[in-house]
Amino acid sequence: MNTTRTIQDEILKLKKEHDILILAHAYQSQDILEVADYTGDSYGLSLKAQSASQKTILMCGVRFMAETVKILSPHKKVLLSHPQAGCPMAEQISIQELAALKQTYPGYTVAAYINTTSELKTLCDVCVTSSSAVKIIQKLDNKNILFIPDCNLGAWVAKQVPEKNIQLVKGGCPAHASISVSQAKQAKLLHPDAKLLVHPECLPEVSSLADYAGSTTGIIDYAKNSTDSAFIIGTENSIIEHLQFACPDKQFYPLSPDCICSNMKLTTLIDVWHCVQGSGGEEIVLPADVMEHARRCIDTMLALGA
Ligand code: 13P
Ligand code: SF4
Repeated sequence: MNTTRTIQDEILKLKKEHDILILAHAYQSQDILEVADYTGDSYGLSLKAQSASQKTILMCGVRFMAETVKILSPHKKVLLSHPQAGCPMAEQISIQELAALKQTYPGYTVAAYINTTSELKTLCDVCVTSSSAVKIIQKLDNKNILFIPDCNLGAWVAKQVPEKNIQLVKGGCPAHASISVSQAKQAKLLHPDAKLLVHPECLPEVSSLADYAGSTTGIIDYAKNSTDSAFIIGTENSIIEHLQFACPDKQFYPLSPDCICSNMKLTTLIDVWHCVQGSGGEEIVLPADVMEHARRCIDTMLALGA
């Protein structure tokens, strides 16, 4: 009979035999993180993809993450762990809408959250992730920035970089943006000794109540390194389980029971098993011109984010 452990052992054996690097976003389930070579936030995954030596890279996450890996490693075979795992935010602005926005804001530098399609990135000047956005926006020469598509992350950046004129558009993560201010206030009342840690994809009014706002890895590191012992977690709820494994003596409470990314949850350990067997996932194939033009803004992100 197969068990989680026997399947994990099979995956570890097969990934070595087939020279596969497994990257897993921190929102993947614990059983998947345990077989990955690297787990972390979008920026960390991009860095790993850039320096990988393996012939095949399996991205356990969502489509824009696998596309970023393919763009950074065009000669490698890149697999997305589940063909239906997309990010709804990545599809919120079409290429025609961005072209129109660029006409409305001529001379603006277009900064795209990495949660965008590769096609859209071809029209952008620079990409950012939640952990690199403030640093990158600060370093841009232009004062005028058009920030797409997450207005919550954009507002959080704008607050920290007041010297820039940041134009926001209407977009965001349905899971994080569903967390309300009253939920944040209630959670703080219920757990007065707990620190509130949130992802900047949350509403600005929620982020402003937090003790810390930052990327997935930022939240994990904050909780691990803190001398506090209780935390309210305002991001995808899988992070609570990962933190419980990492810090079993600390307490973690969800800010909202509904902050769940259904797309990140599509990939199962069995999908990963099928991928390393050579029978699962989807190989990412992008048109050469899209890869070439989208790469410019990803390379600029890596250069300015360093
Ligand atoms: P991170 O940059 O923190 O990994 O965020 C990516 C994401 O999709 C969060 O919802
Ligand atoms: Fe996209 Fe939100 Fe899921 Fe992140 S949590 S992948 S932004 S839908």
